[in-house]
Amino acid sequence: MTNLSHLTPIRDHLGRPLQDLRISVMDRCNFRCIYCMPEEKFHSGFNFLNSNERLSFDEIYRLTKLFCDLGIKKIRITGGEPLLRVNLSELIGDLSNIDKIEDIALTTNGVLLKKYAEELKACGLNRITVSLDSIDPDQFKIMTGGRGNLETVLQGINEALLVGFEKVKINAVLKRGTNEDQIIEMVDHFNGQSVIIRFIEYMDVGNLNEWRLDETVGSDEIIKKLSSKWKLEQLDKNYEGETAERFKIVDTETEIGLISSVTKPFCGACTRARLSSDGKLYNCLFASQGKDIRHWIRSGESDDFIRNEIASIWKQRKDRYSELRYSEKGDTTSEKVEMHYIGG
Ligand code: GTP
Ligand code: 5AD
Ligand code: SF4
Ligand code: SF4
Repeated sequence: MTNLSHLTPIRDHLGRPLQDLRISVMDRCNFRCIYCMPEEKFHSGFNFLNSNERLSFDEIYRLTKLFCDLGIKKIRITGGEPLLRVNLSELIGDLSNIDKIEDIALTTNGVLLKKYAEELKACGLNRITVSLDSIDPDQFKIMTGGRGNLETVLQGINEALLVGFEKVKINAVLKRGTNEDQIIEMVDHFNGQSVIIRFIEYMDVGNLNEWRLDETVGSDEIIKKLSSKWKLEQLDKNYEGETAERFKIVDTETEIGLISSVTKPFCGACTRARLSSDGKLYNCLFASQGKDIRHWIRSGESDDFIRNEIASIWKQRKDRYSELRYSEKGDTTSEKVEMHYIGG
């Protein structure tokens, strides 16, 4: 193999380095969140992938190493629900042994955390983010399409803290008319715990959630609500390209994040490549199509060939969907990949 270390991380057409890889390991989910997998569309007849269509752990491991040669240092494992993938901890264990990887995080709905938190920690997982949109049991049930039991998820979060994850992040998507009262409720509930709540603006990902802009609760409105109860202080970003703007409640250790992908897009610092569960590489959360890497793997292509192809895809990358959403150059009408398949 050619020594690429002097050329990494590789940069895309807009100068953005390739730094993070988000790997969806499972397109299925045990929830049906109303903004992600609405039950009417994701019913029992929905065509999820067959297990042999999903990348195997060996294939994921091989690809991750190739991505690392190109500059990847951070991995996020996503779904659907990643903990539905049998023996996920084994994959985490293998990935955490790759030298260049500095950080492995998991985004989960938390249902299976109580069972798996300990082994995930033991296998080298660094961080956990739990998707949780309400602290009210009935509202939580509505948000998750009738499937979520709040208590189980809260137990999962506690277990993660107990087994040694320093902080757990919570991702809360707000949908106007359904759960915007959670801005205050959730912060009140988690205030004082080792939890960072991030409020995410509801986005137009995919085609099946029938997104409407008036259902997005903008971050300015969220800050205003929070400021009516608490004094906030803005914190510096942890790293260049962090999705969340960080705030702290003054005189406490409580951190709150705001992810304003609709009202304040952050494409300029987007260093994230996304791999779907069937091995397609996407340059953007809003892309219509991904490049079929699995095909190269399964047709016996060499590491050099696949690495070069990935590098060439990244170098040509010009995506900045969120920044262009409302401009003349924007295209909001094309088919977009669904969130459960690419993992957010
Ligand atoms: P940290 O490594 O903890 O900073 O995580 P993260 O914020 O990069 O990842 P996470 O999966 O927690 O992201 C939270 C949410 O932000 C996602 O679920 C998406 O809704 C949104 N998000 C993350 N990355 C992008 C992105 O590249 N573009 C857009 N538009 N939204 C993103
Ligand atoms: N808009 C914003 N966030 C979303 N998520 C799923 N669908 C959307 C959407 N349409 C979030 C989930 C989860 C993460 C993977 O993405 O809440 O935390
Ligand atoms: Fe499942 Fe997460 Fe989508 Fe909810 S947001 S349906 S938990 S993948
Ligand atoms: Fe990155 Fe696309 Fe999100 Fe912009 S819209 S931040 S390019 S994933």
